Amino acid sequence: MNLIPVGIIGSGSYVPERVLTNKDLEQMVETNDEWIVTRTGIRERRLAAEDQASSDLAYQAALKAMGKAGITAEQLDLIVVATITPDMAFPSTACILQDKLGAKKAAAFDLSAACSGFIYGLANAVNFIATGTYKYALIVGAECLSKITDYTDRNTCILFGDGAGAVVLGQVPEGRGFRSFELGADGSGGPLLKIEGGGSRNPSSPASLEAKQHYIYMEGREVYKFAVRIMGNAAEEALRKAGMDKEDIDLLVPHQANIRIIQSALERLNLPEEKCMINLHRYGNVSAASIPIALAEAAEEGRLREGDCVVLVGFGGGLTWGASVLIW
Ligand code: UT7
Repeated sequence: MNLIPVGIIGSGSYVPERVLTNKDLEQMVETNDEWIVTRTGIRERRLAAEDQASSDLAYQAALKAMGKAGITAEQLDLIVVATITPDMAFPSTACILQDKLGAKKAAAFDLSAACSGFIYGLANAVNFIATGTYKYALIVGAECLSKITDYTDRNTCILFGDGAGAVVLGQVPEGRGFRSFELGADGSGGPLLKIEGGGSRNPSSPASLEAKQHYIYMEGREVYKFAVRIMGNAAEEALRKAGMDKEDIDLLVPHQANIRIIQSALERLNLPEEKCMINLHRYGNVSAASIPIALAEAAEEGRLREGDCVVLVGFGGGLTWGASVLIW
C-alpha cells in the first residue's frame, strides 16, 4: 500500500488573559518565587476565566491553525481533542468543538493520555490521512488545569496552567512530514499522578469532595525520576525508527513540565538549549496543550524552516509517553 506523506499544514495556539505569577502564589501557599524558578523554571501561568472551558480555548487555537492551513471547517474530516479537562464527561470536547466550528462532516473524539495526549492524537490522525481514509484532520491539545488544581497544595498548584494548541494535518510533498512515532504506557505507575474522584470507581459525592478527590494528586519526585528516564529513551527510539540520529535534530519541542527535566533530555541528546523550544516560564505545565502551544509559537517565531528535523517528546499521567520525528 502506498502511503500518503502527512505533515502539519497549519498551527495555532491560544492562552487565556489572566496571568498568575509566582508572587501571586506566594500569597496563596507557603512558597516563594526563588524556589519555584530554581526547581521548575516557571515564572507565571495563564488561568481561564470562570466562564471559559477547554472547548473555548480549543476553538480559538483551532481557528488560528485552520487560518494558517487555509482550510475551512467544512473541509475537516476528523477532530481529535487531547485533554484531561474535558468540558464535561460527555459529550466529548471534540464534539462540542465540532459544533462550535461548524465542521459538519468531521468525525470527532477525545483522547485521554494526559500530557502525552497530543502526540497520541497525532499518531492516530496521521494514519487516517496516510492511508487515504481522510484528507484533513484537526488535532488539539486543550486544558483548563486550573479547574482541577488544589490552590492550597503547594506541591501541584505552582506547576499548572491553562491553554490550547492546535494543528491541521494534511498531505505534504514527498520527503516531508511525519517519519516516526514512539508511544508507550506503564499503567503500574498510574497511582503517581491521578484524579481519583468523579469516575465510575469513585463517583462524585460529598465525601469525595471533602477528601479533595476532584483535584490532581501527584507524587512529584517519582514522576520526575520517570520523566528524566523516559524523555531521552522515547526521543532516541523515535529517531531510530525514523533512521535518523541525535545530530540530525534541528528543533526539540518537549513537554513543558520542568526546566530540569528538559535540561536532562538535552544532555542525553547532546543538544544545545538553542535547539530546544522552551516557553514553560510563561505558561507552566499545560498538560496535553504544552507541546502544540510550543510548536505553534516556534512556527510563529520563524524557528522552523522547510526541511528541518523536528522532534516532539512528552510524558505524563498513565503513566504514558510519546515521541515523534517529523520533517517540517
Ligand atoms: O506533566 C507531568 C506532571 N508532572 C511533572 O512533571 C512533575 C515532575 N516533578 C517535578 O517537577 C518536581 O518533583 C517538583 C517541581 C514537583 C518538586 O521538585 P523537587 O525538587 O522534586 O522537590 P521535592 O518534592 O523533593 O521537595 C523538596 C522540598 C520539600 O521540603 P523538605 O521535605 O525537603 O523540607 C518540599 O516540602 O521542597 C518543599 N516544597 C516546596 N517548597 C516551596 C515542595 N513544594 C514547594 C513549594 N515551595 N511550592
